[in-house]
Amino acid sequence: MNINDNFSKLQESYLFASIAKKVKEHSQTHPDKNIIRLGIGDVTLPLAPAVVNAMQNAVLEMGDMATFRGYGEEQGHSFLRDAVCGYYAKKSVAIESGEVFISDGAKSDIGNILDIFSTDNVVLIPDPVYPVYMDTNTMAGREILFMHGNEGNGFLPLPDKNTKADIIYLCSPNNPTGAVYDKEKLKLWVDYARESDAIILFDSAYEAFVRDESLPTSIYQIEGAKECTIEFCSLSKTAGFTGTRCGYTVVPHGLLRGGASLNELWLRRQTTKFNGVPYIVQRGAEAVFSDEGLAQARAGIDYYMENARIIADALTGLGIWFAGGENSPYIWLKCPDGMSSWGFFDYLLERAGVVGTPGAGFGAGGEGFFRLTAFGSRENVIAATQRMKEL
Ligand code: MLT
Repeated sequence: MNINDNFSKLQESYLFASIAKKVKEHSQTHPDKNIIRLGIGDVTLPLAPAVVNAMQNAVLEMGDMATFRGYGEEQGHSFLRDAVCGYYAKKSVAIESGEVFISDGAKSDIGNILDIFSTDNVVLIPDPVYPVYMDTNTMAGREILFMHGNEGNGFLPLPDKNTKADIIYLCSPNNPTGAVYDKEKLKLWVDYARESDAIILFDSAYEAFVRDESLPTSIYQIEGAKECTIEFCSLSKTAGFTGTRCGYTVVPHGLLRGGASLNELWLRRQTTKFNGVPYIVQRGAEAVFSDEGLAQARAGIDYYMENARIIADALTGLGIWFAGGENSPYIWLKCPDGMSSWGFFDYLLERAGVVGTPGAGFGAGGEGFFRLTAFGSRENVIAATQRMKEL
């Protein structure tokens, strides 16, 4: 028996698990300290009333023999897939129900989708970025190339004709930097992928936070993207589903490689390894896409974006360089006085009782930077900025 030796190439623990452990240890040695958590992007507002009502009704249906449901379609109930198609139609993107796959969140699908790709593929990953892309490919033993985001390119790396990759990850709005690709820059990626027969895995988990209407909120708003892209999205941040769990992945029918339909491969994978998201959760997710649900979700996003503005104003007042916060719930700041990411993490935790995420956790290119999330309560965000000013 041999274990998968690729696991020995991973960091000892997942970024947010390491932070949680450090914070727990700190709390144990400082039991009276009120720690404010602006680290992991976990929401604080409750589920919207439209979602709660829909889920309560679904619970009642499940408790009645006449309306009870057992297994659903592995791909997701058609009522929810149709609702997702309706949401895309509002973005002027035509998606068919058979192209939508409901899951328990973008993170799972982003990791699981790798089942349909050969481990021989070369992967291109932005740095810094959400650590799941690198960790999941490291587990599978794929060769990973990095493209570097920095202040010079606005943390939006562009294709380089000299780099040959088969699978390209893009995250826009970017986690952690908050940078968003405009249509022209995304078109460069779509053209590059089509010319080289590569596949783009596009993570749009933060699309609902885009305020600038000229910016794309789906890569399918770019001509040709359906021939080269799988898009992942999530209700975690859009509608407070971090604990409820529901996301969706779009695999266009026209996406063909090596004579195979990627949609059919993914369906084959899901029907074998996945039995779908709970019916009650899917009814709640359907309600997010109703007019009432969208308005309520929007109000929650407005609340978080006001938090982002409060953090941004505080940093401006302190003369600290930062990006993000305008079209994303993350503020990406430069650690003051040349501190390292983890050095600033410790300093802020010990001296101010505020938890953020060290930029180095998102890749080598994140060293010297730090991420604060706008998902805290208003009270905590104000208190955290006050503590930072005092410090
Ligand atoms: C983050 O803080 O980057 C996110 O909450 C992680 C996630 O969505 O899995």
